[in-house]
Amino acid sequence: MPVRYVPQDDNEEVLFCNCKQTKDGPHCDGSHNNLPGAYEEDDPESIENKSIDEVFGDASPLNRLNGECYIFSLDKAVMKETGALRYATVIAPSLGAVFQSQFFVQARKGTSEAISFGNRHVVLYMSSGATRISIGDRSFDAEAGSGAYIRPHETFQIKTNDTASIYISACPTAEDIPFVQSPSPYFDEQFPSRIVPLDENKREAMATRYFQMLVDKSVGSTLATQFIGHIPYSKAMPHRHLYEEALIILSGEGMMWTETKKATVKSGDVIFLPRKQLHSLQSTGEDGLDVVGVIYPGDNPSINY
Ligand code: FES
Repeated sequence: MPVRYVPQDDNEEVLFCNCKQTKDGPHCDGSHNNLPGAYEEDDPESIENKSIDEVFGDASPLNRLNGECYIFSLDKAVMKETGALRYATVIAPSLGAVFQSQFFVQARKGTSEAISFGNRHVVLYMSSGATRISIGDRSFDAEAGSGAYIRPHETFQIKTNDTASIYISACPTAEDIPFVQSPSPYFDEQFPSRIVPLDENKREAMATRYFQMLVDKSVGSTLATQFIGHIPYSKAMPHRHLYEEALIILSGEGMMWTETKKATVKSGDVIFLPRKQLHSLQSTGEDGLDVVGVIYPGDNPSINY
């Protein structure tokens, strides 16, 4: 039956379902990806794809593809240092981001200075090492592989007894990590659960891929969403999203494709994708690619068009 839909403002952009399988009508919820034959793969050896130039980058950590899309290589990054933290700016407005930022942080033994991103949502991915994250007057243990969520107006600190590496995403975007003199005790008690561990039982299938939601609405984050996923040896058809996306390559090798450029990606790289950028991330290794993604604004990483 027809569904009446009233836009909330003149500039609203939405994706309506046309496959009739959505559970969030009239919007697309990504269900089309799991229809038989619907998730098409692309042939990297086709005549059109063979004509696409590979770009190799230079000494800069940024290797730019079409639009504002780029690949950031941590092995070329210049690190800054504040107290117990060394960090690199991976995604920021000055690099072309409009909606989200990301910082790669290495923590050494001790407690970091307090960090406050003001009214932004903050999403952490614990890449290595065991940490204790203080948020306001609460503390949480976070193992490697887990995600963490910090609500607007909360301050946080990172503690470790050894070393740890963490990706910090701030949404909306921020140019640098705002360290503050003293931590605030404020903790938003409406959302007491903040750490989401890796759990293979929570994997969801999307065609031949699978992913697990980490930070999402289940911990109170409705617009900044983090997931961990696996891409098997394959190349998806080029597609777009309405959200801005950061993809951390955890393991494996791949090729990132945009309209007229392509570039290799490897473990430790981060791909920045602006909204609506046509792209395809090909997994070129037999073991596939493991990735962590942060999307903003968005709550469902399987919606594409
Ligand atoms: S869920 Fe129907 S088109 Fe996406």
